[in-house]
Amino acid sequence: MIFDINRFINEKVTGREKSFFEKDLENNKQELEREITNKKVLVIGGAGTIGGSFIKALLHYNPATLVVVDINENGLTELTRDLRSSDDFKVPSTYLTYPVNFKSNVFRKLLRAHGPFDIVANFAAHKHVRSEKDIFSIEAMLENNTLNAKYLLDLLNEQKPKHFFCVSTDKAANPVNIMGASKKLMEDVIMAYSTEMKITTARFANVAFSNGSLPAGFIERLFKRQPLSAPSDVKRYFVSPKESGQICLLACILGKSGEVFFPKLDESNMTTFSQIATDLLHWLGFEPELCSSEDEAREKAAAMKDNTKSYPVIYFASDTSGEKSFEEFYTEHEQVDFNRLESLGIITNMERKRPELIGRLFADLQRTLDNDANDKATLVAVLKDYLPNFQHIETGKSLDQKM
Ligand SMILES: NC(=O)c1ccc[n+]([C@@H]2O[C@H](COP(=O)([O-])OP(=O)(O)OC[C@H]3O[C@@H](n4cnc5c(N)ncnc54)[C@H](O)[C@@H]3O)[C@@H](O)[C@H]2O)c1
Repeated sequence: MIFDINRFINEKVTGREKSFFEKDLENNKQELEREITNKKVLVIGGAGTIGGSFIKALLHYNPATLVVVDINENGLTELTRDLRSSDDFKVPSTYLTYPVNFKSNVFRKLLRAHGPFDIVANFAAHKHVRSEKDIFSIEAMLENNTLNAKYLLDLLNEQKPKHFFCVSTDKAANPVNIMGASKKLMEDVIMAYSTEMKITTARFANVAFSNGSLPAGFIERLFKRQPLSAPSDVKRYFVSPKESGQICLLACILGKSGEVFFPKLDESNMTTFSQIATDLLHWLGFEPELCSSEDEAREKAAAMKDNTKSYPVIYFASDTSGEKSFEEFYTEHEQVDFNRLESLGIITNMERKRPELIGRLFADLQRTLDNDANDKATLVAVLKDYLPNFQHIETGKSLDQKM
């Protein structure tokens, strides 16, 4: 059986046959070609879902050089296989992938050797709310998402690209979890540097079936004949992977420095994870069999016959730390231009903290992280000090306690 995941996403998850961003891409074709065709591009975190989708959107405009950096060596291999196995993409003759952490000496060397780049886009991050379990996982997240973002900007300042883009998340608007707070701090850093080079960012919601997401986990569960588990009360906006790359490309090339882009999605397009699970099972010819406990679901899955038509699922109300029951792309203090583009709103008045202030803030954060006696509550208190609107939701339960 051939399972067309993109068709499933378009028909059942986003409900859009055509990309939501197609019109803006068409309307701005000349500018996109002028800025990308024959140019040198560096993509960091390019083996990931959004980075890979950005690359696919970009290749449409024929850059001369594409350098991709990602710590995930297997992911880079899959990216290359994917690009070279499709008719849709023309891989440039200078195409280089490096399994490298961008916070490393090797990266610094390769940036100097291959740069300067016309376009640099960064998608490398810890992105899971589930990673905020304890002091160690939080420290790793703050280091990668926040401190390293500043390191990258300091490096790029030596060889400024014409366009620098760094992806954010809707969770950075009025953050309620440490992942959102780490991204809000990242936004503060890039805003502080946005007077020195052109930097743009984008906030958006769930990318359907992105790496490590709950829907991507459904596919893994099906391969392993394990039950599907999903919250039934969390409604989310979804964009397809292809659309996620297009959002980032439009923001990267068309944005003015310091602007934040977000998709103008309609609430009627929101859906729940349990609905996606049900639709996926129906799509594949199964009927979901509702279970009332994880034990029952595991037992039913273990007893499944090859010709089964029903598939065990467990749907529940969300009760883990740091979950927002709604999504927001901008706060009441942020000024939004809804008219420049058809499909994207643009926040135009982001606060720009002075680089010296950011330097001090980061030194404080580094000092706090260097203190071995830290705990989660202390770190949350430090973050709250910097981000007055950070309302951390702590239920004492982490997603790692669930199936
Ligand atoms: N997936 C979504 O639904 C979604 C929605 C909105 C925003 N975002 C944001 O977009 C970003 C990327 O999301 P994604 O779904 O593509 O994630 P992903 O995990 O698929 O991709 C991230 C990539 O970055 C790489 N990486 C991480 N740290 C690195 C480092 N220090 N050096 C080099 N490579 C590194 C990882 O190996 C991975 O391949 C995240 O910051 C996330 O918060 C994601």
